[in-house]
Amino acid sequence: MKKMWGGRFTQPTNKLVEAYTASIGFDQRLAEVDIEGSMAHVRMLGRVGVLTPDEADAIVQGLRKVKQRIDSGEVSYSVAYEDIHMNIEKMLTDEIGPLGGKLHTGRSRNDQVALDLHLYVKRVTVQTVEQLARLQEALLQKAEEHVDTILPGYTHLQRAQPIRLAHHMLAYVAMFGRDIERLQDSYKRADCSPLGAGALAGTTFPLDRKVVAEELGFSTMYDNSLDAVSDRDFIVEFLSAASLIMAHLSRMGEELVLWSSQEYDFIELDDAFCTGSSIMPQKKNPDVAELVRGKTGRVYGHLIALLTVLKGLPLAYNKDMQEDKEGLFDTVDTVSGALKLMAPMIATLKVKKDNMRAAVERDFSNATDLADFLVGKNIPFRQAHEIVGKIVLYCIEQKKYLLDLSLDEYRQFCPEIDETVYDALNVERVVDARDVYGGPSRRQVERVLSERKSRLNET
Ligand code: ARG
Repeated sequence: MKKMWGGRFTQPTNKLVEAYTASIGFDQRLAEVDIEGSMAHVRMLGRVGVLTPDEADAIVQGLRKVKQRIDSGEVSYSVAYEDIHMNIEKMLTDEIGPLGGKLHTGRSRNDQVALDLHLYVKRVTVQTVEQLARLQEALLQKAEEHVDTILPGYTHLQRAQPIRLAHHMLAYVAMFGRDIERLQDSYKRADCSPLGAGALAGTTFPLDRKVVAEELGFSTMYDNSLDAVSDRDFIVEFLSAASLIMAHLSRMGEELVLWSSQEYDFIELDDAFCTGSSIMPQKKNPDVAELVRGKTGRVYGHLIALLTVLKGLPLAYNKDMQEDKEGLFDTVDTVSGALKLMAPMIATLKVKKDNMRAAVERDFSNATDLADFLVGKNIPFRQAHEIVGKIVLYCIEQKKYLLDLSLDEYRQFCPEIDETVYDALNVERVVDARDVYGGPSRRQVERVLSERKSRLNET
């Protein structure tokens, strides 16, 4: 098969080389943006007089036909044409003859592939923001239902202080909110057109880069042709934002796994989002949450892989950069697969309120409040801490909790304690006393809930 760059070669390409260097196996995903970019390029060539208006029209029509063929799924790409760019050009010339050969005037695959990737990353960034917003919506919905549900908050996975379940869910809403902001920010770097940079040093044709950038919806253009074709940092930024999304999803997945275990028994995941065991009939496994946790590593891997590809590359384009795509595509699939499942899984899970409550009541998560109570009696906090530690030790020996102690028992440890202590240790009081900005009190939680809801409506 004759190569598009075959002029200076006298020998055919080794088949193994062809297979090794081809990217068509994966970059066919760029077909849509590639054709869009080519159409805009050709229209601009027509406008500036590099092509006649008729030529430009005929090529655009031809590209339209190619797109129809691709959409109908009837095309078979060829590794002999290496990548999506040359496969499309080949299909175009099959469609309209030698005129198709004018498409690539004033363009290189180097600025072409950079353009395609910018368009693609812009698109998937918008899609990911949308999916994050859907997950936030599911979390907010649950949070709203569970303002009154109280559970232990943990540190070191040891029960620490009671919080509202809504507060716990709002923590994830906040994380995903920052993920959205990160994507909205990295979008700005993807929103910059490299087209017109040519292979590395621009072009001798009088291209109007601005017009074509605007037609393609870009806000800015690269102001350096070398940078335009060498830059993949906008992909690194996307992968980095994606890595943090996965980190957050993975922590949430881990909690779903823990909370649905018999040991915690805080939630039940809907049957539709669990799987069974091939041997143990009683099992209902949280596979989705586990896989989200498990797939996090590959996204981190793609981030590190691309950073490593870029490190040490001399300017401008190097074939190494073809390695930017598979990790990007896999990241998009992995993140969107996880987000699409997590939202309905959260929406359908059942909360076992009573078990959460029991975990708070049969515990010492109000011990800090007893110490704070003593501080109110003018005992220095450090001393109060020591006294309460002794009281807790006594309770453990007596198999009691703080609210089970009599006033006489309390007074053996600290004569300043009076009957108002019982009120101070009541669970609702304990939570609502934490009314600092951002705390778990009803007032704070309800304020954040309503702020987050109105912000979501703006996204
Ligand atoms: N398939 C190539 C890639 O993805 C396109 C650019 C090739 N440019 C070149 N000069 N070989 O990076």
